[in-house]
Amino acid sequence: MEDVQDVFLYASDDAVTKYLTWPSHVDISQTEKVVKEIFMATPGIFAIELKSEGKCIGCIDLRICAEHDKGSFGYTINREYWNKGYATEALGLIIDLAFSKLGLNRIEGMHYVGNEGSGRVMQKCGMRYEGKGLQEVKIKGIYHDVVHYAILREEWIASKQVK
Ligand SMILES: CC(C)(COP(=O)(O)OP(=O)(O)OC[C@H]1O[C@@H](n2cnc3c(N)ncnc32)[C@H](O)[C@@H]1OP(=O)(O)O)[C@@H](O)C(=O)NCCC(=O)NCCS
Repeated sequence: MEDVQDVFLYASDDAVTKYLTWPSHVDISQTEKVVKEIFMATPGIFAIELKSEGKCIGCIDLRICAEHDKGSFGYTINREYWNKGYATEALGLIIDLAFSKLGLNRIEGMHYVGNEGSGRVMQKCGMRYEGKGLQEVKIKGIYHDVVHYAILREEWIASKQVK
């Protein structure tokens, strides 16, 4: 709960929430409720802490679909810290966790057209482009084309052997 102020910083930024399903927080009490009732109550949601500043600069979550041994994820970074490799570092760890400890077979992710930085993060983590769904979702009243990426366990193992 000590991270609420830090979370509010990024959750209240319209540039951060532009491609997210939820609207920017306008009051810190909204953030307090989300941290308490969603972040703390749901397994698989991780805070991303910048160790040097002891600051929570974002979050990443892993959503497991046990029926198909697969997972998906979402990530958010405070805009002040974009393009420094933090989302790539966090997603890399989530993918490693999913395959090495949780026994998953596939990790899939998606981003809306326009949010290409997110696709770049997935590429840097070894994920493969799978295709694009035209006007696949309607978010905040706007239809978005959705770009899909995935990595299979066998691809992750092969990439580790190359390194
Ligand atoms: C998407 C997001 C999590 C990326 O976080 P980040 O810590 O900046 O990511 P990284 O620094 O690890 O990598 C970003 C990469 O995208 C690239 N990039 C940034 N903007 C880009 C753009 N418009 N087009 C193409 N590439 C872009 C960067 O150059 C970098 O790649 P590089 O290392 O090859 O130069 C961050 O921008 C964010 O929080 N956005 C708002 C929330 C969001 O959209 N989440 C994802 C929903 S799918």
